Amino acid sequence: MKPPPGTPDPAPKNPAAPPSQELQFGAVAVRLGFITKDRLEKALGIQRNLEAAGARVAKLGEMLVEKGWISAAQASVIRKIQSTAEDALEIPGFRLHEEVGRGQSGRVLRAVQISMDRVVALKVLHPRLAENAEFVARFVREARAVARLSHPNVVQGIDVGCAGGVHYFVMEFVEGPSLKQILQPGQALDERYALGLGIQVARALQHAHENNLVHRDVKPGNILLAKSGAAKLADLGLAISGGGGASGALNGTPTYMSPEQARGASDVDIRSDIYSLGVTLFHLVAGAPPFSGKTVDELLARHQREVPPLACQVNPAVSLATSQAIGCALQKDRARRFATPADFATALEHCAWALYHAATAPVMPAAPPAAPLPAAPPVASPRFAQRRTRRT
Ligand SMILES: Nc1ncnc2c1ncn2[C@@H]1O[C@H](COP(=O)(O)OP(=O)(O)O)[C@@H](O)[C@H]1O
Ligand SMILES: [Mg+2]
Repeated sequence: MKPPPGTPDPAPKNPAAPPSQELQFGAVAVRLGFITKDRLEKALGIQRNLEAAGARVAKLGEMLVEKGWISAAQASVIRKIQSTAEDALEIPGFRLHEEVGRGQSGRVLRAVQISMDRVVALKVLHPRLAENAEFVARFVREARAVARLSHPNVVQGIDVGCAGGVHYFVMEFVEGPSLKQILQPGQALDERYALGLGIQVARALQHAHENNLVHRDVKPGNILLAKSGAAKLADLGLAISGGGGASGALNGTPTYMSPEQARGASDVDIRSDIYSLGVTLFHLVAGAPPFSGKTVDELLARHQREVPPLACQVNPAVSLATSQAIGCALQKDRARRFATPADFATALEHCAWALYHAATAPVMPAAPPAAPLPAAPPVASPRFAQRRTRRT
């Protein structure tokens, strides 16, 4: 029997290749014979390394043209094919509008959920991920768990489903930018503002933790700023393979990845999210993440072995208390980090209070000038007096 449209497909035994699979820029370029598979792999590797090093990553098409691997005319042919088929995407129950962003896991569209007449964000899973039955099963399982959560600092999950081979996740639409979009290279955010964001995200993680969920990809790009000013944690439970090199199955984003995630540990728990939030906060207050690397492997090795600086060593304007709280989250040994996000939130609250009091403490009136002390009466030392007595 055919399931009703939009019914989640927990673990397709033989997942049909979604029609949009052919539409990835690289795949189309290979199919049309514009580029070889090896070249495409090389180009994707370069992009991964640039991203790991925090450099600007050009779109694949731009990069291939820049390198002379395809011509500009070939790139525009590919784009035309892509847009024609993407426009044809249909998901029952939703009216799809413009694309609001793209990430490793797919693209995010603004949409209207017709039954509720409300604006939602609809994430369409990248066809490369939809091919992986194990990933899809976890995606569906965790998306359902996330949809059961309700917290002011968590992007509300609404629905998960599969239509015409396209897997999608529907969530609350957050109008503001992500932290990644507001961060400028080398520029730090105000410490008190950053602490406020950190406290909210730590509370969101505590809520996830209490519901047995681990985020696995806490990073500025997954912290959205609502119009109300609230920070909202997105993509809970949707972490995807972001590593590279020898360890291709890593979940998360290398710049913000915990040492245990970097070595591919299978028992990653909430303390890994505490580490990633620590890296994120470091980035916010210091203006750059604690570690960078020319390649993904170099970056991952640093997370595992190198002691990070204190944030105040990079930006002297940051308080020692905040730097130390972040330092505690960045411990290599997870047993030495905060045990729970709630503990991290409490520490950050103390830092915020200390800054608040330092800024608002009443200035003590200057002490009145001290009256001159009366001259002390000469005190004769008994020994000195004795000696004098003896001499006379
Ligand atoms: N719930 C949402 N509401 C509005 N915009 C969103 C939402 N989720 C994601 N976006 C936008 O889509 C972009 C891509 O998101 P995503 O695919 O999760 O990529 P990544 O997390 O790798 O940056 C984000 O940078 C953000 O601008
Ligand atoms: Mg995201």
